[in-house]
Amino acid sequence: MSEKGTFYITTPIYYPSDKLHIGHTYCTVATDTIARYKRMCGYDVMFLTGTDEHGQKIEEKAKEAGVTPQEFVDRIVEGKGGILDLWKLMNISNDRFIRTTDDYHVKAVQRIFKKMYDNGDIYKGKYSGMYCTPCESFWTESQLVDGKCPDCGRPVKYAEEEAYFFKLSKYAEPVRELLLSGTFLEPASRVNEMIKNFIDPGLEDLCVSRTSFKWGVPVDFDPGHVVYVWVDALFNYMTALGYMNEERDGLEKYWPADVHMVGKEIVRFHSIIWPAMLMSVGEPLPKKVFGHGWLLLGGGKMSKSKGNVVDPYILAGRFGVDALRYFLMREFPLGSDGNFSNELLISRINSDLANDYGNLLSRTVAMVIKYFGGTLPSGRENSDADCELNTMAGELRGKYEKLMDTFQTQGALEEVFKVISRANKYIDENAPWVLAKDESKADRLATVMYNLLEALRICTQLLTPFMPESTAKAADQIGVPAELRTWEAAGEWGKLPENVTVCKGDTLFPRIDMDKELAELEKIEEEARREALPPIEIEPQLEEKVDFDTFCKSDFRVVKVKSCEAVKKSDKLLKFILDDGTGTDRQILSGIHKWYQPEDLVGKTLVAIVNLPPRKMMGLESNGMLLSAVHKEKGEEALHLMIVDDSIPAGAKLC
Ligand code: ME8
Ligand code: MG
Repeated sequence: MSEKGTFYITTPIYYPSDKLHIGHTYCTVATDTIARYKRMCGYDVMFLTGTDEHGQKIEEKAKEAGVTPQEFVDRIVEGKGGILDLWKLMNISNDRFIRTTDDYHVKAVQRIFKKMYDNGDIYKGKYSGMYCTPCESFWTESQLVDGKCPDCGRPVKYAEEEAYFFKLSKYAEPVRELLLSGTFLEPASRVNEMIKNFIDPGLEDLCVSRTSFKWGVPVDFDPGHVVYVWVDALFNYMTALGYMNEERDGLEKYWPADVHMVGKEIVRFHSIIWPAMLMSVGEPLPKKVFGHGWLLLGGGKMSKSKGNVVDPYILAGRFGVDALRYFLMREFPLGSDGNFSNELLISRINSDLANDYGNLLSRTVAMVIKYFGGTLPSGRENSDADCELNTMAGELRGKYEKLMDTFQTQGALEEVFKVISRANKYIDENAPWVLAKDESKADRLATVMYNLLEALRICTQLLTPFMPESTAKAADQIGVPAELRTWEAAGEWGKLPENVTVCKGDTLFPRIDMDKELAELEKIEEEARREALPPIEIEPQLEEKVDFDTFCKSDFRVVKVKSCEAVKKSDKLLKFILDDGTGTDRQILSGIHKWYQPEDLVGKTLVAIVNLPPRKMMGLESNGMLLSAVHKEKGEEALHLMIVDDSIPAGAKLC
């Protein structure tokens, strides 16, 4: 075992119900960054993520899709573009992946449920209340916000069932103490929220079984009941390590967890229900729950139903995974909400990665090649005339460590970039291109180059958890030997050999043309919004009845198009001259230019209502209306003229 000890970190397990968006990515990237950081520091890290696959919502979605729930979740978890693919794309370094449909987990949950039943903390009763299906949550009236689900804002419905209950009320005081003690729940602001909203009003016993659907872990001693999805889900953190099962291991080594990273809307489950259940089964409590904020879009939550999800595949494809990872960790403090925009993303990439870091790297490497053929000379003194840069870089690791240990990824990156800025300024101050003109300054020039490479080496090492691939390439360019790519070496100035050899490489973060890129993303997103719309929408039929006589008053006739032309100055209207069988031409104007070219309609046999009062449009008279069928396709109006068989004579009456 590592001398630093173990570090067990988890993400929530995700619902495989919709396509994951950048918000989900945010949570997992944050956890991954911390896991990588801890590994770099020398901890024996266990990083767990997974999927939360049971529940009514999944059952319903599978039904809609016409597949079994298992097929449904398999596709979203393992299929192309699914959850596993996304984590691979984002370079997530989880050590294990749990699916709550895994056999060992299901059996373990049954044993856990039985254990709490046997110890008297789970008992049978009857449940009635307001239920939010998407959130799988019962709410009391007082918890509802404007009569809707306080988490997602969607309507709730009254539901009633025979059910098992967990004696949550019994644990109210121990949980309160836990919340108030030390640093169990962070950021600290969430502690008050929990106490004020849930503990103070009085914790009610929690309904922990359902009979209204089947897709869950069956209560093995009472058929028809399935275990409440949150009981099933929360224990994943332990079953994945072998709790109540033989198939997995690591519980003794890694439990209790060092930190559960969770989004703020599920802090309640992790900081109240989870510790209470652990107290019930007599297991140690996790050391920390960290509630991160949401990534918002236009100030609101991302959701597929709003059609406003941001697709991490698209962004990573265009800007690179590391740039996206960096942005997520740099732009927003982990505990607070942040508003995502493409503009912020691009300007962050351009300013920090292309300009400050990327440029420092490429300039420095280019100068070492130009002035020294790529290898700095040995046998020179590194003067300490440059102490500000040296000191800043030398002290960086200490500052960084404090911030990373308290999950202040944003602050840690700020510190790294202060050193990067200082190094860029150092280039300007020392003007290597001037030194290069003077033979006698060759030593000084080499020292300047060395200091730049050292600053780059330290910064690059500390950026590794954030951008694992790009930093490895950067370290290659700087010429960092493998044994110096470590946490220890990042804490010490002057580790690079004085005759270091750099290596020219590709531009790691190309500058992005903001306007061009924004326009293209806008197009892609528009397309995606359209894709998310129902393929075909048809207006519902009218409820109100019309009597037969009223209907018969409408005079529908078959008409033939003698001529058709666009009305000048109108982009919608077509002017039709029609044979309606009376021997006198009939003129009708119709706003259908969007769908038809006039020349295509000449000679067609159509249907018109002919006894409408005349109407003026664009100074022309219209006598009647052509009939057409309308619906929506991907949100857009689609229209089809009623074109009928040419063998029907003009003037034939429809009835
Ligand atoms: O809640 N910004 O799963 P989930 C930031 N299965 N984080 C976001 C986000 C956003 N826009 N949208 C979602 C569940 N998340 C349960 C967890 S754990 C035992 C069971 C985060 O798929 C969200 O806050 O709805 C949560 O932490 C995670 O994604 C999974 O959400
Ligand atoms: Mg959720």
